[in-house]
Amino acid sequence: MTRVLVVGSGIAGLWTAIRAAEAGCDVTVVTKAALGDGATGWAQGGIAAAIFADDAPARHAADTLAAGAGLGDPEAVRVLTGDGAARIRDLIRFGVAFDRDDSGLARGLEAAHTRARILHAGGDATGAAIQAALVGTVRRRGLRVLEHTTLVDLVVDGGRAVGISAIAAGRAGGASTANSDAVVTLRADAVVLATGGTGCLYRHTTNPDVATGDGVAAAARAGAVVADLEFVQFHPTALAIPGTPLISEAVRGDGAVLRDAEGRRFLLEVDPRGELAPRDVVARAVWRRMAEQGGAPVVLDATHLGADRLAGRFPGIDAACRAAGFDWSREPVPVVPAAHYAMGGVATDLDGRTNLPGLWAVGEVARTGVHGANRLASNSLLEGAVFAERAARDLASAAAVPASVPPAGDPTGHAGPDAAARGVSERNSFDAHQPAAAVVDREALQALMWEHVGLERDAAGLAAASARLDAWRAPDVVDRRTAEDRNLLDLARLTVAAALTRTASVGAHTRRDAPVPALERQAA
Ligand code: SIN
Repeated sequence: MTRVLVVGSGIAGLWTAIRAAEAGCDVTVVTKAALGDGATGWAQGGIAAAIFADDAPARHAADTLAAGAGLGDPEAVRVLTGDGAARIRDLIRFGVAFDRDDSGLARGLEAAHTRARILHAGGDATGAAIQAALVGTVRRRGLRVLEHTTLVDLVVDGGRAVGISAIAAGRAGGASTANSDAVVTLRADAVVLATGGTGCLYRHTTNPDVATGDGVAAAARAGAVVADLEFVQFHPTALAIPGTPLISEAVRGDGAVLRDAEGRRFLLEVDPRGELAPRDVVARAVWRRMAEQGGAPVVLDATHLGADRLAGRFPGIDAACRAAGFDWSREPVPVVPAAHYAMGGVATDLDGRTNLPGLWAVGEVARTGVHGANRLASNSLLEGAVFAERAARDLASAAAVPASVPPAGDPTGHAGPDAAARGVSERNSFDAHQPAAAVVDREALQALMWEHVGLERDAAGLAAASARLDAWRAPDVVDRRTAEDRNLLDLARLTVAAALTRTASVGAHTRRDAPVPALERQAA
């Protein structure tokens, strides 16, 4: 029986675990918080799939590739969109009650979709509904779960991943150490990384605090190919209060508009699709308009939708706005961009295999190639489900053949996975020789990334960031926090190296020192 270790417990991890167990694997789920924690439960907008009569997978694929600014992998996108309907049926079987209206399943519109194809549950609580259904399935079926157990490193033996080292909170045992953390080694025939994204690299993020990119960093240290780390998606509409809670794109899909400090609707000056242009375009426009008005947030005006519609369709956002003191049915609310999603990650083939035998990656931690340089809204839950299903099938027949992972997909040849992978190993050896360097400070790193590696970058800022990152060293790993800080430092270095290497502006990677062809392309 194949022993499978799944690290992470969002949609991709739990899906892989459930389906691999069904296929006869001996599965253990390892997660650094509680089983229900993570970004999946925070997903508001929904899950996109071409399941309605006026739609087709090929149309969804075309929208996905267009949003990806020409860097998406067409075959991966064909799989993503083609398998969508089957995975929606699976979710319903798992117990997800998608919202319905008079026509059947209700559907919403989001930016850069040419059809309304976004399914949602609980209005704006789609991720929470999916997470609850999957957690319930895992619990009912009695799958082995190790909570509060943080990945430290992959264990590699003979060129193959054979397990992980991890820190188990409060597991050291003994009277004097009852509350201490213990380092444990967990062995397996196959390791599946499903650790999610990297939002905590940035000072402002819509992500929960678990999003510290642990899987990407550990995979890179183990020699797996990582790619496209320069493509970080910034969501244009986070509420401008501490913690920057998300205001879903679905609100704009419902008709809300963005206005500047003068009350002007400025998006149409940038792109004929206005608020429903691809996310990179909208986020960049918001960022630039904020700069023009001295840093003040722009506002999201949903007042014409009315109190009943807003509370009924978006109950979570309604509550968040009201808790922050805003009545968004009466006044526009201030919004700012915030780091939201990592398009890059551990490079995989279409079955989640990485180049390291014994290692798979699924969900946001993976770079499957479906998102190119900018993810289409509500494709992330779909990607998690589609590629977890494929990985689970593959695990059941897991001959340890490494994937021939696709190249980074840049026709201009500006960047590639090797450049990024070299970053971590060179800099790690630098650490080893610089014992006097200061230990990385998480808040300072996040501020640095926001300032120099955020929505707009340039060579000078990236070089400054690189120098500052080089002056830090990773902490000794003794608990979850120090494990995360080490990962954030590695990831920041890899991200800066990738951003320096890609000298052109494309998708979410906007170089101030290179033109943004996407604007012309999209406005054409
Ligand atoms: C949103 O609801 O705006 C986020 C959905 C997504 O990230 O795709």
